Amino acid sequence: MNFKKLRSLLGVHGFPWDEQKGPRRILGVHPTRVNVTHDSKPSSGAKSATNSHVFGCDSREPATGHGFLVSDRPVYFGISGQVCGRSLVEIIRYPHPTLRHVSKPLKRVDTELRKMVDEMFELMYAARGIGLAANQVDLPYRLFVLNLQSDPELKEEERVFINPVITHRKGTAQREEGCLSLPELYAEVTRPEKIKVNAFDLSGNELSLELDGLFARAVQHEVDHLEGVLFIDRLSETSVADIKEPLEEFELDFKSRRDLGEIADDEAIAARLVDLERMRT
Ligand code: CO
Repeated sequence: MNFKKLRSLLGVHGFPWDEQKGPRRILGVHPTRVNVTHDSKPSSGAKSATNSHVFGCDSREPATGHGFLVSDRPVYFGISGQVCGRSLVEIIRYPHPTLRHVSKPLKRVDTELRKMVDEMFELMYAARGIGLAANQVDLPYRLFVLNLQSDPELKEEERVFINPVITHRKGTAQREEGCLSLPELYAEVTRPEKIKVNAFDLSGNELSLELDGLFARAVQHEVDHLEGVLFIDRLSETSVADIKEPLEEFELDFKSRRDLGEIADDEAIAARLVDLERMRT
């Protein structure tokens, strides 16, 4: 992967937020615009998202990093774990129902949401990941964060994709993937090799990018999350059979955490997502 080329691609920010272009919605090719504000007050009477469930800290499990190899360089889509000492959200694991939530486009970006995005980056770095979607931290918003270098020092590598829409797909490529919500589980996934994606950044700039290699793969992996799709859904029956055991372990772990009252029931999770959606989608 040519990162110089990627960086130069990413330097292009598309259309300025205030440019008068008129409606450009062509069958969902363009992402839904977001209203960017610097006001931290919620737009409705909905409950604040900064409740203890979202930002609660739990010292049960220390942050640890797990990696895997894509091609010859180590990259990470994931791990889990919780990080304490700061008000960080938790990365939820399969089979948490929010991982199956189809996220609605964001209409509002406010100070509180920016804070959530900062926390997502922190969690992602703590887990040594390169990408994290909002529903992996139990938020129903159509956004994800990326830093393909997984290096918190490289702020210029940080990207926030809001309301992303993949408009073109070309070729096929196979590579090993993992996911922060399925730590230590890896499998070869076949996906289109090249894509075009449109999205907005946190400042409301429209991004329009042509991607290949790891960048294209990571964006597709994260856009899948926003559709409630996991990389294990893209495996052949034989490959799924190969990972049957670890998947069952995740399911057992989830059940025992729920039995202990550490994870809310499906109804409570769904109600909370509706409240959060009401605020910004
Ligand atoms: Co993932």
